[in-house]
Amino acid sequence: MSLDPSPAPAIELVGIDKKFGPVHANKNINLTVARGSIHGIIGENGAGKSTLMSIIYGFYQADQGQIRINGKPIVIRDSQTAISSGIGMVHQHFMLVENFTVLENVVLGVEGGALLGRDAARAREELKRLQKDYGLEVDLDAIVEELPVGAQQRVEILKALYRGADILILDEPTGVLTPAEADHLFNVLRVLREQGKTILLITHKLREIMAITDTVSVMRRGEMVATRATAETTVEELAELMVGRRVLLHVEKGEAKPGPVLLSVKNLTVKDSRGLKMVDNVSFDVRAGEIVGIAGVAGNGQSELLEAIAGIRKPSSGEILIDGQPVAELDAARRRELGLAHIPEDRHHMGLVLKFEEYENSILGYHRDQRYGRGAFLDLEAIRKDAEDKIAKYDIRPPNPRLKTANFSGGNQQKIVVAREIERDPKLLIVGQPTRGVDVGAIEFIHRRIIERRDAGKAVLLVSVELDEIRSLSDRILVMFAGKIVGEKTSEAGEQTLGLMMAGIAA
Ligand SMILES: Nc1ncnc2c1ncn2[C@@H]1O[C@H](COP(=O)(O)OP(=O)(O)OP(=O)(O)O)[C@@H](O)[C@H]1O
Ligand SMILES: [Mg+2]
Repeated sequence: MSLDPSPAPAIELVGIDKKFGPVHANKNINLTVARGSIHGIIGENGAGKSTLMSIIYGFYQADQGQIRINGKPIVIRDSQTAISSGIGMVHQHFMLVENFTVLENVVLGVEGGALLGRDAARAREELKRLQKDYGLEVDLDAIVEELPVGAQQRVEILKALYRGADILILDEPTGVLTPAEADHLFNVLRVLREQGKTILLITHKLREIMAITDTVSVMRRGEMVATRATAETTVEELAELMVGRRVLLHVEKGEAKPGPVLLSVKNLTVKDSRGLKMVDNVSFDVRAGEIVGIAGVAGNGQSELLEAIAGIRKPSSGEILIDGQPVAELDAARRRELGLAHIPEDRHHMGLVLKFEEYENSILGYHRDQRYGRGAFLDLEAIRKDAEDKIAKYDIRPPNPRLKTANFSGGNQQKIVVAREIERDPKLLIVGQPTRGVDVGAIEFIHRRIIERRDAGKAVLLVSVELDEIRSLSDRILVMFAGKIVGEKTSEAGEQTLGLMMAGIAA
């Protein structure tokens, strides 16, 4: 037991500065993180949060400044140095080897070489102890790709702890989690804190900040602009500090004026590769001038439903009509020609080609459009002008259409997809998780664009696991559970009513 009256902070950053070419990602950052605390970092998309964490973890080198860990200045040349200094990181996109077991993933790179006999037994025992101490349940022999995301994340945490992490960095850990998984994670984080670990948590969800952090720091445009004791601040103050202006945390919208049916789904059934019904005999309509929201815990068939409507997944039976026309025989491109636009849930797998430059992604899927050229020739000038307009309108940062898409921050990548799909002026917009990883200012912006679609007499189908988002945008709410639509409510329905329906308990 140490009775040190004033333990050195776990982390001190002094004057950290980092540029990527013309982009000044971190400007003279000072930050102190107390040992045994949960310290939140918030900030707009592109504010420099992930960059700063990557510097602490040795992925990037700061151009200037000093890092002190437990009072000692250290130079973190690479992640190996970070790990041996007791720093662990759980990334925004997991870095596990998908076809390896949990045990193999955790031990990978530590034991050096194949894991045999006695070593494997020792590793297993050590892991069991960690699992017990921190509530990190996961089957050590499961193949990683077969685990739900929440469990994969526990593997990442286990891996960091197995390597001796005292400081844990989590970059948007709840973006991909269901509410129950997020609660589970927070319980784990509380236990970690009790055991004296220090946690740096990046999130866009201000409610999470209020619920779990001790201290919160705000970044804006590369600078650290404020640090507050969580107990002494409010969601409103934090939102304003992030964006530099007041943010409407609730969207305002008038009455819907529903018109003719633009999307009709009839007795639709979609099976997965194992023949299980992911969407089970689902029927509903979406009219012009209304937003229909599909609420549900992730994994209850919403994704498959959206993909079937978009034309990227084949249903096994049933009918889909877009503006009265059956589309079973039409591929995704032909459906777009009918006036469908699709903001996919997973921008990395479906929405963007990360190695393309921004302007190429800004027309992805629409390059045959007349306005981008005629015949076999693309009018690059027109495409770039169009990309620049979207960048300005959606405040995509940095405003550079020639930048490789991978080098935009997560939230700005999302804005690239949203701009591309909405600016097409589609008759029918189908949207999956439109604001995942997006900051509060941009959420307000994207929500307004979606409501504008409705008010312009277009149809919107919205899928989101964020119940708040569903409730504030939708005119009608359909609740999906185990592949079926279990009920319909208006936006007046309470959180609890919807929550019970989402859990399959009430209708
Ligand atoms: N490898 C890179 N090359 C060039 N620019 C980069 C690179 N990595 C980050 N940037 C730029 O640095 C800035 C900060 O990005 P960063 O990813 O740190 O933002 P963030 O605060 O994590 O945003 P988000 O909330 O969207 O994840 C952005 O303008 C981004 O485009
Ligand atoms: Mg980030």
